[in-house]
Amino acid sequence: MSSKKLLIVAHMPSANTTQMAQQVLAGSKHSDISGIEATLKSPFEADEKDVLTTDGIILGTTENLGYMSGALKDFFDRIYYPCLEEKQGLPYALYIRAGMDGTGTRRGVETIITGLKWREAHPVALCKGDYQESFLDDCFNLGMYMAAGLEAGMI
Ligand SMILES: Cc1cc2nc3c(=O)[nH]c(=O)nc-3n(C[C@H](O)[C@H](O)[C@H](O)COP(=O)(O)O)c2cc1C
Repeated sequence: MSSKKLLIVAHMPSANTTQMAQQVLAGSKHSDISGIEATLKSPFEADEKDVLTTDGIILGTTENLGYMSGALKDFFDRIYYPCLEEKQGLPYALYIRAGMDGTGTRRGVETIITGLKWREAHPVALCKGDYQESFLDDCFNLGMYMAAGLEAGMI
């Protein structure tokens, strides 16, 4: 059976957010899961070819000035039209690292995703407030859930 691809596009401007993204990747590579090829990229590195060839996507962003990071917005600006027709129904999950809020970021991402017609495969993981070690578990579980869901053909 050919492997499925899981693309993680995460903005990682700090030590905490880098660790969070690495936990998403680690969860997606859980030893009980096979047949999933997971890749972690910065939004600046990821392009439409990555999206066109993936079976699922996890998006990670900080909240900056009440909105998603400029990095993730730039990613959407570049992939939107090249992927609009071909990737409808793509299962996605989103996690947000916000110092205190996160609602503006969630709204902004979900508005774009409504346009793209991607399909929510997991509730938003909102990691807000002072940094907590439990955010790492949330991120690990998100990666694991998405990879396991793809493996089982359930998402
Ligand atoms: C320029 C700037 C603007 C920010 N704006 C917001 C904001 O509007 N809402 C919010 O909840 N956090 C905001 N933050 C906090 C970031 O989300 C937080 O610094 C980032 O997620 C990194 O978290 P960390 O300290 O755990 O590494 C802002 C940070 C920066 C640098």
